[in-house]
Amino acid sequence: MTDLTATPSTLLELFQPEWVRDPYALYRILRERSPVYWDDIMATWVVLRHADIAALSRDPRLSEDRVTPLLDRLPADRRAGMRPLADALSDMMLFNNPPRHTRLRAMMRQAFTRKAMEEMRGSIEQRVTRLFDAHRATGRLDVLNDLAEPLALDVVADLLGFPEPDRHLLIGWSSLLHEFFMQSPAEVERVRRIREVFERVAADRRGRPQPDLTSRMLADGDAAGATEDELFANFLLIIDAGQVTTSHLIANAVRALLLNPDQLQLLRDRPDLMPSAANELMRFDSSVQFTTRMATTDIEIGDYLIGPSEPVTLVVGSGNHDPAKFADPERLDITRQSKEHLSFGFGPHYCLGAGLALIEIQAALSTLLAGTRTLSLVSPEFRWKDSINFRFLTDLHVAFDPAG
Ligand code: HEM
Repeated sequence: MTDLTATPSTLLELFQPEWVRDPYALYRILRERSPVYWDDIMATWVVLRHADIAALSRDPRLSEDRVTPLLDRLPADRRAGMRPLADALSDMMLFNNPPRHTRLRAMMRQAFTRKAMEEMRGSIEQRVTRLFDAHRATGRLDVLNDLAEPLALDVVADLLGFPEPDRHLLIGWSSLLHEFFMQSPAEVERVRRIREVFERVAADRRGRPQPDLTSRMLADGDAAGATEDELFANFLLIIDAGQVTTSHLIANAVRALLLNPDQLQLLRDRPDLMPSAANELMRFDSSVQFTTRMATTDIEIGDYLIGPSEPVTLVVGSGNHDPAKFADPERLDITRQSKEHLSFGFGPHYCLGAGLALIEIQAALSTLLAGTRTLSLVSPEFRWKDSINFRFLTDLHVAFDPAG
């Protein structure tokens, strides 16, 4: 039995090394004590159960606009400098509510149909194979930096039709909301330069449409009267949402398989399990652990009353390990039906790129497994980036014997 009186009471504990190693153990303690609570130190409501997170993710009384409250809190002299980031964020569908959210999302829908995603599978597989082959002779690979990051960058860039010579602008991109929160001036300049690229690509695609997201978005957006700022912001959202989420998920997935050799072997023996394995790996250790909303009015949840303008943190990583939803949640089981994990969110903001991310994860894992006879960790120690919202390794070195 866990002694709940001696246990931690804030999500901020996640910065402690023991919880960095295993945040799910902390979520369990917090969830058993109270599945919804006001976190004094983080100054937010925290929601930990799968059912509550799913319900609140589709509750229109919660707002996605997290940008305005952040901007309002900045001192006036800082506000002007950060305005370009705030403007770009405010026009992204992710930080908008219906009906504006519905309109912005609609202009991207054509680019993310299942058919459009499947058409990218071949080029994604070729890209992973090329990245892996460059390391085949050495028998060593940093799964994150040598394979997953360049893959996710090029997939996003291909999707957008982002020109090859400008792709250096996308290297090292993390999260614009985080950079805005940190008041990072470097990102203001980078956003300005990406806008120049967008304007060049947009002028070209309006005259000469290509089979890429930008051409489809411009056609639908122009017809629906979208502003140039809105078109740019949602172009930028794809860069923001599609890279680090996916590259780090691939690294977390490979790590999880290496720590569970029976499941790794099972996937080698039964490649037909790849679709369910990809979902289970998303559930088991997602790169995204929280998402946040703002209450717009009183919301009763259990015995608690969330008040207007209070932030609400939906801990999807905890929902993914809620035993009321997934039996024996700490066990990695690639045969499990895990589709209802929360790693892609839930409700109207459900990840638009989920299908694409799953193709990338499957392609990376298939290439690694098919290309190796053995695969092992170079070190049993893992280094994680300093974030509790995201679960990001800094690197993942593996050694392997190449297959035939
Ligand atoms: C494993 C990789 C990924 C993870 C874990 C992930 C996670 C998420 C989550 C949790 C949300 C919802 C956020 C919220 O409700 O506040 C979201 C939304 C979104 N994601 Fe992903 N994502 C991934 C990959 C991608 C990719 C590859 C793309 C595009 C190329 C993408 C594009 C988007 C967009 C545009 C939204 C906003 C949808 C909306 O507001 O309607 N994501 N993602």
